[in-house]
Amino acid sequence: MKLLIKNGTIVTPEQIYKKDILIIGEKIRKINENILPEKSSNNYKIIDADDKYILPGIIDAHTHYFMKSPPNNVTADDFYSGSMSAAFGGVTTFIDYAEQQKGHSIIEAFINRLEEAKGNAAIDYSFHQSVCSLYNNTKEDLKELKDGGVSSLKLFTTYKEEGSMLDKEDLLELLKMSRDSKLLVTVHAEDDEMIDQIKIKYKDKEKLPPCFHPLLRPPEVEYSAIKEIGDMAKLLDMPIYIAHLSSKKGYRALKEIKKSRGKIFAETTPHYLLLTEDLLKKEDSQKYFMTPPLRDKEDNEALWEALRDKYISVIDTDHCSYTTEQKFLSSNCLDILAGIPGSETLLPLVYSYGVGRGYFDVKNMVNLLSTNPAKIFGFYPEKGSLEVGTDADLVIFDPKKEIIISDSQQHTAAGYTPFDGFKVKGYPTTTILRGKIIVNDNRFYGEKGGGKFLIGKESALY
Ligand code: URP
Ligand code: ZN
Repeated sequence: MKLLIKNGTIVTPEQIYKKDILIIGEKIRKINENILPEKSSNNYKIIDADDKYILPGIIDAHTHYFMKSPPNNVTADDFYSGSMSAAFGGVTTFIDYAEQQKGHSIIEAFINRLEEAKGNAAIDYSFHQSVCSLYNNTKEDLKELKDGGVSSLKLFTTYKEEGSMLDKEDLLELLKMSRDSKLLVTVHAEDDEMIDQIKIKYKDKEKLPPCFHPLLRPPEVEYSAIKEIGDMAKLLDMPIYIAHLSSKKGYRALKEIKKSRGKIFAETTPHYLLLTEDLLKKEDSQKYFMTPPLRDKEDNEALWEALRDKYISVIDTDHCSYTTEQKFLSSNCLDILAGIPGSETLLPLVYSYGVGRGYFDVKNMVNLLSTNPAKIFGFYPEKGSLEVGTDADLVIFDPKKEIIISDSQQHTAAGYTPFDGFKVKGYPTTTILRGKIIVNDNRFYGEKGGGKFLIGKESALY
Protein backbone atom coordinates (compact mmCIF):
# COMPACT_ATOMS: atom_id res chain seq x y z
CA MET A 1 0.00 0.00 0.00
CA LYS A 2 1.24 3.48 -0.88
CA LEU A 3 -0.06 6.62 0.70
CA LEU A 4 0.60 10.02 -0.80
CA ILE A 5 -0.16 13.04 1.36
CA LYS A 6 -0.23 16.16 -0.77
CA ASN A 7 -0.06 19.88 0.01
CA GLY A 8 0.21 19.49 3.79
CA THR A 9 2.25 21.77 6.06
CA ILE A 10 4.84 19.58 7.78
CA VAL A 11 5.72 20.56 11.35
CA THR A 12 8.87 19.38 13.12
CA PRO A 13 10.65 20.99 16.09
CA GLU A 14 13.04 22.65 13.61
CA GLN A 15 10.84 23.85 10.79
CA ILE A 16 7.46 24.29 9.17
CA TYR A 17 7.35 23.68 5.44
CA LYS A 18 4.96 22.66 2.70
CA LYS A 19 5.88 19.41 0.95
CA ASP A 20 4.29 16.13 -0.08
CA ILE A 21 4.96 12.90 1.81
CA LEU A 22 5.09 9.48 0.19
CA ILE A 23 4.57 6.49 2.46
CA ILE A 24 5.31 2.98 1.26
CA GLY A 25 4.39 0.16 3.60
CA GLU A 26 5.20 1.23 7.17
CA LYS A 27 7.80 3.89 6.39
CA ILE A 28 8.11 7.42 5.08
CA ARG A 29 9.86 6.99 1.71
CA LYS A 30 9.97 10.46 0.22
CA ILE A 31 9.39 14.06 1.31
CA ASN A 32 9.47 16.45 -1.61
CA GLU A 33 7.68 19.10 -3.59
CA ASN A 34 4.98 17.90 -5.91
CA ILE A 35 5.44 14.13 -5.68
CA LEU A 36 3.44 12.43 -8.42
CA PRO A 37 2.12 8.87 -8.23
CA GLU A 38 3.94 6.51 -10.57
CA LYS A 39 1.86 5.99 -13.68
CA SER A 40 2.33 2.23 -13.63
CA SER A 41 0.91 1.81 -10.13
CA ASN A 42 -2.70 2.25 -9.12
CA ASN A 43 -2.12 1.01 -5.58
CA TYR A 44 -2.09 4.58 -4.21
CA LYS A 45 -4.27 6.35 -1.77
CA ILE A 46 -3.95 10.12 -2.11
CA ILE A 47 -4.90 12.48 0.70
CA ASP A 48 -5.16 16.21 0.10
CA ALA A 49 -3.92 17.93 3.27
CA ASP A 50 -4.15 21.50 2.01
CA ASP A 51 -4.57 23.93 4.96
CA LYS A 52 -3.68 21.14 7.39
CA TYR A 53 -0.65 20.47 9.54
CA ILE A 54 1.19 17.16 9.33
CA LEU A 55 2.60 16.32 12.76
CA PRO A 56 4.61 13.31 13.89
CA GLY A 57 2.33 10.89 15.77
CA ILE A 58 1.64 12.00 19.34
CA ILE A 59 3.22 10.01 22.18
CA ASP A 60 1.24 9.75 25.42
CA ALA A 61 4.16 8.90 27.69
CA HIS A 62 2.09 8.32 30.85
CA THR A 63 -0.95 6.05 30.68
CA HIS A 64 -2.56 3.46 32.92
CA TYR A 65 -4.66 1.26 30.64
CA PHE A 66 -5.97 -1.96 32.18
CA MET A 67 -4.61 -0.99 35.59
CA LYS A 68 -5.64 -3.18 38.49
CA SER A 69 -6.52 -1.36 41.66
CA PRO A 70 -6.68 -3.64 44.70
CA PRO A 71 -8.76 -5.21 46.08
CA ASN A 72 -10.99 -5.71 43.05
CA ASN A 73 -11.13 -2.76 40.71
CA VAL A 74 -9.69 -2.34 37.26
CA THR A 75 -9.62 0.80 35.12
CA ALA A 76 -12.48 1.31 32.67
CA ASP A 77 -10.13 1.38 29.69
CA ASP A 78 -8.35 -1.80 28.79
CA PHE A 79 -5.47 -1.78 26.31
CA TYR A 80 -7.85 -1.79 23.37
CA SER A 81 -10.36 0.89 24.38
CA GLY A 82 -7.66 3.10 25.87
CA SER A 83 -5.43 2.98 22.80
CA MET A 84 -8.37 3.26 20.39
CA SER A 85 -9.61 6.37 22.17
CA ALA A 86 -6.04 7.74 22.12
CA ALA A 87 -5.89 7.20 18.34
CA PHE A 88 -8.91 9.49 17.91
CA GLY A 89 -6.77 12.18 19.51
CA GLY A 90 -3.80 11.67 17.18
CA VAL A 91 -1.83 9.47 19.57
CA THR A 92 0.17 6.69 17.86
CA THR A 93 2.33 5.53 20.80
CA PHE A 94 1.60 5.17 24.50
CA ILE A 95 3.92 4.32 27.37
CA ASP A 96 2.21 2.47 30.20
CA TYR A 97 3.48 0.81 33.39
CA ALA A 98 4.58 -2.67 34.35
CA GLU A 99 4.06 -2.71 38.10
CA GLN A 100 6.27 -4.84 40.29
CA GLN A 101 4.37 -6.72 43.00
CA LYS A 102 6.11 -6.95 46.39
CA GLY A 103 7.98 -10.24 46.72
CA HIS A 104 8.06 -10.74 42.95
CA SER A 105 10.71 -9.77 40.43
CA ILE A 106 10.53 -6.90 37.98
CA ILE A 107 11.12 -9.35 35.14
CA GLU A 108 7.99 -11.24 36.16
CA ALA A 109 6.02 -7.97 36.19
CA PHE A 110 7.35 -7.00 32.78
CA ILE A 111 6.57 -10.39 31.21
CA ASN A 112 3.04 -10.37 32.68
CA ARG A 113 2.42 -6.88 31.37
CA LEU A 114 3.66 -7.81 27.89
CA GLU A 115 1.22 -10.70 27.95
CA GLU A 116 -1.68 -8.43 29.03
CA ALA A 117 -1.04 -5.98 26.23
CA LYS A 118 -0.30 -8.55 23.51
CA GLY A 119 -2.91 -8.61 20.76
CA ASN A 120 -4.92 -5.80 22.35
CA ALA A 121 -3.35 -2.39 21.73
CA ALA A 122 -4.44 -0.52 18.60
CA ILE A 123 -1.33 1.70 18.58
CA ASP A 124 2.35 1.09 19.40
CA TYR A 125 3.43 0.96 23.03
CA SER A 126 6.11 0.50 25.62
CA PHE A 127 6.35 0.33 29.41
CA HIS A 128 8.02 2.10 32.27
CA GLN A 129 8.93 -0.46 34.92
CA SER A 130 7.80 0.43 38.44
CA VAL A 131 10.00 -0.76 41.30
CA CYS A 132 8.64 -1.08 44.84
CA SER A 133 11.10 -3.52 46.44
CA LEU A 134 14.66 -4.69 45.98
CA TYR A 135 15.83 -8.32 46.02
CA ASN A 136 19.05 -10.27 45.41
CA ASN A 137 18.94 -10.11 41.64
CA THR A 138 17.71 -6.56 41.16
CA LYS A 139 20.86 -5.33 39.46
CA GLU A 140 20.97 -8.20 36.95
CA ASP A 141 17.23 -7.90 36.31
CA LEU A 142 17.55 -4.19 35.59
CA LYS A 143 20.14 -5.01 32.94
CA GLU A 144 17.92 -7.73 31.49
CA LEU A 145 15.01 -5.31 31.41
CA LYS A 146 17.06 -2.80 29.50
CA ASP A 147 18.13 -5.46 27.02
CA GLY A 148 14.43 -6.27 26.64
CA GLY A 149 13.74 -2.73 25.46
CA VAL A 150 12.71 -0.84 28.60
CA SER A 151 14.46 2.49 29.04
CA SER A 152 12.80 3.90 32.16
CA LEU A 153 11.74 3.07 35.70
CA LYS A 154 9.04 4.55 37.91
CA LEU A 155 9.48 5.17 41.61
CA PHE A 156 7.11 6.56 44.20
CA THR A 157 8.01 8.76 47.13
CA THR A 158 4.49 8.21 48.47
CA TYR A 159 1.95 5.37 48.92
CA LYS A 160 4.11 3.72 51.61
CA GLU A 161 1.03 2.09 53.13
CA GLU A 162 0.07 0.63 49.76
CA GLY A 163 3.56 -0.84 49.40
CA SER A 164 4.62 1.25 46.40
CA MET A 165 7.44 3.16 48.07
CA LEU A 166 11.07 2.17 48.69
CA ASP A 167 12.68 3.17 51.98
CA LYS A 168 15.49 5.75 51.79
CA GLU A 169 18.34 3.24 51.81
CA ASP A 170 16.83 1.13 49.02
CA LEU A 171 15.93 4.25 47.07
CA LEU A 172 19.57 5.34 47.06
CA GLU A 173 20.68 1.85 46.11
CA LEU A 174 18.18 1.70 43.24
CA LEU A 175 19.22 5.12 41.97
CA LYS A 176 22.84 3.92 41.83
CA MET A 177 21.89 0.72 40.02
CA SER A 178 19.73 2.63 37.53
CA ARG A 179 22.52 5.09 36.84
CA ASP A 180 24.98 2.23 36.27
CA SER A 181 22.55 0.58 33.83
CA LYS A 182 21.62 3.96 32.31
CA LEU A 183 17.94 3.49 32.99
CA LEU A 184 16.03 6.74 33.33
CA VAL A 185 14.32 7.08 36.71
CA THR A 186 10.90 8.76 36.64
CA VAL A 187 9.35 9.73 39.96
CA HIS A 188 5.89 10.33 41.39
CA ALA A 189 7.11 12.99 43.79
CA GLU A 190 5.06 13.64 46.94
CA ASP A 191 6.61 13.53 50.40
CA ASP A 192 4.91 10.67 52.25
CA GLU A 193 6.15 11.65 55.72
CA MET A 194 4.68 15.12 55.32
CA ILE A 195 1.39 13.65 54.14
CA ASP A 196 1.29 11.38 57.20
CA GLN A 197 1.88 14.39 59.47
CA ILE A 198 -0.95 16.31 57.80
CA LYS A 199 -3.28 13.31 58.07
CA ILE A 200 -2.91 13.33 61.88
CA LYS A 201 -4.74 16.68 61.93
CA TYR A 202 -7.79 15.07 60.39
CA LYS A 203 -7.69 11.72 62.16
CA ASP A 204 -10.88 12.35 64.14
CA LYS A 205 -12.92 13.20 61.07
CA GLU A 206 -15.12 10.31 60.11
CA LYS A 207 -15.21 11.23 56.46
CA LEU A 208 -13.04 13.43 54.28
CA PRO A 209 -14.90 14.69 51.23
CA PRO A 210 -12.93 15.12 47.96
CA CYS A 211 -12.21 18.80 48.64
CA PHE A 212 -9.88 17.67 51.46
CA HIS A 213 -7.58 15.91 49.00
CA PRO A 214 -5.59 19.09 48.16
CA LEU A 215 -5.23 19.76 51.91
CA LEU A 216 -3.78 16.30 52.53
CA ARG A 217 -1.42 16.58 49.56
CA PRO A 218 -0.60 20.30 49.25
CA PRO A 219 2.04 21.76 46.90
CA GLU A 220 4.61 21.83 49.75
CA VAL A 221 4.55 18.04 49.66
CA GLU A 222 5.51 18.08 45.98
CA TYR A 223 8.16 20.75 46.58
CA SER A 224 9.80 18.72 49.35
CA ALA A 225 9.85 15.44 47.38
CA ILE A 226 11.28 17.05 44.24
CA LYS A 227 14.00 18.77 46.24
CA GLU A 228 14.97 15.56 47.99
CA ILE A 229 15.04 13.29 44.94
CA GLY A 230 16.58 16.07 42.83
CA ASP A 231 19.41 16.47 45.33
CA MET A 232 20.00 12.72 45.51
CA ALA A 233 20.20 12.48 41.71
CA LYS A 234 22.55 15.44 41.59
CA LEU A 235 24.82 13.84 44.14
CA LEU A 236 24.90 10.69 42.01
CA ASP A 237 25.38 12.73 38.84
CA MET A 238 22.41 11.19 37.07
CA PRO A 239 19.30 12.54 35.35
CA ILE A 240 15.93 12.40 37.08
CA TYR A 241 12.47 12.87 35.53
CA ILE A 242 9.51 14.15 37.54
CA ALA A 243 6.13 12.70 36.56
CA HIS A 244 2.98 14.85 36.43
CA LEU A 245 4.36 18.11 37.88
CA SER A 246 1.29 19.78 39.35
CA SER A 247 2.13 22.98 41.23
CA LYS A 248 3.92 26.31 41.23
CA LYS A 249 5.89 25.20 44.29
CA GLY A 250 6.88 21.96 42.57
CA TYR A 251 8.06 24.05 39.64
CA ARG A 252 10.08 26.18 42.04
CA ALA A 253 11.81 23.05 43.37
CA LEU A 254 12.62 22.00 39.81
CA LYS A 255 14.11 25.41 39.03
CA GLU A 256 16.18 25.36 42.22
CA ILE A 257 17.63 21.93 41.37
CA LYS A 258 18.34 23.02 37.79
CA LYS A 259 19.98 26.20 38.98
CA SER A 260 22.34 24.17 41.16
CA ARG A 261 23.23 22.15 38.03
CA GLY A 262 21.03 19.13 38.73
CA LYS A 263 19.93 17.19 35.63
CA ILE A 264 16.23 17.36 36.37
CA PHE A 265 13.41 17.05 33.82
CA ALA A 266 9.63 17.00 34.08
CA GLU A 267 6.33 16.32 32.44
CA THR A 268 2.96 17.85 33.19
CA THR A 269 -0.59 17.10 32.04
CA PRO A 270 -3.55 19.08 30.65
CA HIS A 271 -5.47 18.73 33.92
CA TYR A 272 -2.78 20.53 35.94
CA LEU A 273 -2.71 23.22 33.24
CA LEU A 274 -6.43 23.77 32.82
CA LEU A 275 -8.44 22.51 35.81
CA THR A 276 -8.58 23.83 39.36
CA GLU A 277 -9.38 22.43 42.78
CA ASP A 278 -12.76 24.18 43.10
CA LEU A 279 -14.06 21.33 40.91
CA LEU A 280 -13.57 19.16 44.00
CA LYS A 281 -16.39 21.06 45.71
CA LYS A 282 -18.93 20.11 43.04
CA GLU A 283 -21.52 17.40 43.49
CA ASP A 284 -19.72 15.19 40.95
CA SER A 285 -16.28 16.05 42.36
CA GLN A 286 -15.03 12.46 42.10
CA LYS A 287 -14.80 12.96 38.32
CA TYR A 288 -11.94 15.39 38.94
CA PHE A 289 -10.14 13.28 41.51
CA MET A 290 -6.55 12.22 40.89
CA THR A 291 -3.19 12.25 42.69
CA PRO A 292 -1.51 14.71 42.99
CA PRO A 293 -4.72 16.74 43.35
CA LEU A 294 -5.82 19.71 41.26
CA ARG A 295 -4.46 23.10 42.34
CA ASP A 296 -5.26 26.80 41.81
CA LYS A 297 -5.32 29.13 38.80
CA GLU A 298 -1.94 30.44 39.92
CA ASP A 299 -0.50 26.95 39.61
CA ASN A 300 -2.02 26.50 36.12
CA GLU A 301 -0.38 29.74 35.04
CA ALA A 302 3.01 28.84 36.55
CA LEU A 303 3.03 25.54 34.64
CA TRP A 304 2.19 27.28 31.34
CA GLU A 305 5.11 29.60 32.03
CA ALA A 306 7.32 26.60 32.79
CA LEU A 307 6.42 25.21 29.36
CA ARG A 308 7.05 28.56 27.71
CA ASP A 309 10.46 28.76 29.38
CA LYS A 310 11.30 25.13 28.52
CA TYR A 311 11.58 23.87 32.10
CA ILE A 312 9.05 21.14 31.30
CA SER A 313 9.99 18.76 28.47
CA VAL A 314 6.83 16.68 27.97
CA ILE A 315 3.06 17.00 28.18
CA ASP A 316 1.25 13.67 28.58
CA THR A 317 -1.90 12.63 30.38
CA ASP A 318 -1.66 10.12 33.28
CA HIS A 319 -4.76 8.62 31.64
CA CYS A 320 -6.21 6.39 34.37
CA SER A 321 -9.90 6.10 33.63
CA TYR A 322 -12.79 4.88 35.72
CA THR A 323 -16.49 5.08 34.94
CA THR A 324 -18.55 7.51 36.99
CA GLU A 325 -20.08 4.45 38.64
CA GLN A 326 -16.63 3.40 39.83
CA LYS A 327 -15.69 6.94 40.83
CA PHE A 328 -18.87 7.39 42.86
CA LEU A 329 -18.33 4.17 44.84
CA SER A 330 -16.90 6.40 47.56
CA SER A 331 -17.08 10.05 48.50
CA ASN A 332 -14.27 9.75 51.01
CA CYS A 333 -11.04 11.10 49.60
CA LEU A 334 -9.01 8.31 51.20
CA ASP A 335 -10.91 5.70 49.16
CA ILE A 336 -11.98 7.28 45.86
CA LEU A 337 -10.42 5.59 42.83
CA ALA A 338 -7.82 8.12 41.71
CA GLY A 339 -7.31 9.01 38.07
CA ILE A 340 -9.06 10.52 35.07
CA PRO A 341 -9.19 9.89 31.31
CA GLY A 342 -7.12 12.15 29.05
CA SER A 343 -5.33 10.58 26.04
CA GLU A 344 -7.95 11.58 23.47
CA THR A 345 -8.08 15.26 24.44
CA LEU A 346 -4.31 15.79 24.86
CA LEU A 347 -3.45 17.22 21.43
CA PRO A 348 -6.49 19.48 20.88
CA LEU A 349 -6.22 20.96 24.39
CA VAL A 350 -2.48 21.61 24.14
CA TYR A 351 -2.85 23.16 20.70
CA SER A 352 -5.83 25.35 21.63
CA TYR A 353 -4.66 26.54 25.04
CA GLY A 354 -0.88 26.37 24.56
CA VAL A 355 -0.27 27.40 20.95
CA GLY A 356 -3.59 29.28 20.76
CA ARG A 357 -2.68 31.50 23.71
CA GLY A 358 0.92 32.04 22.62
CA TYR A 359 2.79 30.06 25.30
CA PHE A 360 4.68 28.19 22.58
CA ASP A 361 4.50 27.75 18.83
CA VAL A 362 3.38 24.69 16.94
CA LYS A 363 7.00 23.52 16.46
CA ASN A 364 7.53 23.52 20.22
CA MET A 365 4.23 21.73 20.66
CA VAL A 366 5.60 18.92 18.46
CA ASN A 367 8.60 18.77 20.76
CA LEU A 368 6.45 18.52 23.89
CA LEU A 369 4.00 15.95 22.56
CA SER A 370 6.18 13.82 20.30
CA THR A 371 9.87 14.50 19.72
CA ASN A 372 10.95 15.01 23.33
CA PRO A 373 9.16 11.93 24.69
CA ALA A 374 10.58 9.90 21.76
CA LYS A 375 14.10 11.03 22.63
CA ILE A 376 13.69 10.78 26.40
CA PHE A 377 12.25 7.26 26.31
CA GLY A 378 14.44 5.91 23.53
CA PHE A 379 12.25 5.75 20.41
CA TYR A 380 13.75 8.53 18.32
CA PRO A 381 13.95 8.89 15.32
CA GLU A 382 11.63 5.93 14.49
CA LYS A 383 9.01 7.81 16.52
CA GLY A 384 8.80 11.56 17.13
CA SER A 385 10.19 12.62 13.75
CA LEU A 386 9.10 13.05 10.15
CA GLU A 387 12.16 11.79 8.31
CA VAL A 388 12.63 9.55 5.32
CA GLY A 389 13.16 5.96 6.48
CA THR A 390 11.35 6.29 9.82
CA ASP A 391 7.97 4.90 10.92
CA ALA A 392 5.11 6.61 9.11
CA ASP A 393 3.28 7.68 12.29
CA LEU A 394 1.52 10.92 11.39
CA VAL A 395 -1.34 13.11 12.41
CA ILE A 396 -3.17 15.29 9.95
CA PHE A 397 -4.36 18.22 12.02
CA ASP A 398 -6.91 20.85 11.02
CA PRO A 399 -5.96 24.06 12.89
CA LYS A 400 -9.31 25.66 12.04
CA LYS A 401 -11.65 22.91 13.16
CA GLU A 402 -13.68 24.08 16.15
CA ILE A 403 -15.22 21.65 18.58
CA ILE A 404 -16.74 21.78 22.03
CA ILE A 405 -15.36 18.75 23.83
CA SER A 406 -18.17 16.67 25.24
CA ASP A 407 -18.68 13.43 27.14
CA SER A 408 -20.78 11.94 24.34
CA GLN A 409 -18.12 12.39 21.65
CA GLN A 410 -15.39 10.59 23.65
CA HIS A 411 -14.27 7.05 22.93
CA THR A 412 -12.89 6.19 26.36
CA ALA A 413 -14.78 3.51 28.28
CA ALA A 414 -14.92 5.99 31.19
CA GLY A 415 -17.92 7.54 29.45
CA TYR A 416 -16.93 11.06 30.45
CA THR A 417 -14.15 13.61 30.14
CA PRO A 418 -13.16 16.13 32.82
CA PHE A 419 -12.88 18.61 29.93
CA ASP A 420 -16.56 18.39 28.97
CA GLY A 421 -17.58 21.85 27.70
CA PHE A 422 -14.05 23.01 26.80
CA LYS A 423 -13.93 24.81 23.46
CA VAL A 424 -11.03 23.88 21.20
CA LYS A 425 -9.89 25.29 17.88
CA GLY A 426 -7.69 22.75 16.11
CA TYR A 427 -8.43 19.03 15.94
CA PRO A 428 -6.83 15.91 14.43
CA THR A 429 -8.71 14.59 11.41
CA THR A 430 -6.54 11.62 10.43
CA THR A 431 -4.22 9.37 12.44
CA ILE A 432 -1.74 7.16 10.60
CA LEU A 433 0.13 4.35 12.35
CA ARG A 434 3.07 2.86 10.45
CA GLY A 435 1.50 3.76 7.12
CA LYS A 436 -2.01 2.61 7.95
CA ILE A 437 -4.89 5.04 8.41
CA ILE A 438 -6.37 4.10 11.77
CA VAL A 439 -8.67 7.11 12.25
CA ASN A 440 -10.18 9.31 9.59
CA ASP A 441 -13.03 11.80 9.92
CA ASN A 442 -14.04 10.45 13.30
CA ARG A 443 -14.15 6.81 12.15
CA PHE A 444 -11.87 4.08 13.44
CA TYR A 445 -10.12 1.86 10.91
CA GLY A 446 -7.48 0.42 13.23
CA GLU A 447 -7.52 -2.99 14.79
CA LYS A 448 -7.22 -4.65 18.15
CA GLY A 449 -3.64 -5.88 18.20
CA GLY A 450 -2.57 -3.49 15.43
CA GLY A 451 -0.07 -1.87 17.82
CA LYS A 452 3.29 -3.47 18.57
CA PHE A 453 5.62 -3.41 21.56
CA LEU A 454 8.54 -1.06 20.91
CA ILE A 455 12.07 -1.96 21.84
CA GLY A 456 13.36 1.23 23.46
CA LYS A 457 16.95 2.40 23.26
CA GLU A 458 18.83 4.30 25.95
CA SER A 459 17.25 7.57 27.07
CA ALA A 460 18.73 10.67 25.47
CA LEU A 461 18.98 12.15 28.98
CA TYR A 462 22.03 9.91 29.66
O1 URP B 1 -4.43 9.51 40.34
C1 URP B 1 -3.63 9.03 39.58
N1 URP B 1 -2.75 9.77 38.98
N2 URP B 1 -3.65 7.71 39.33
C2 URP B 1 -2.72 7.02 38.53
C3 URP B 1 -1.57 6.47 39.29
C4 URP B 1 -0.48 7.50 39.53
O2 URP B 1 -0.30 7.90 40.66
O3 URP B 1 0.20 7.90 38.57
ZN1 ZN C 1 1.81 9.02 39.55
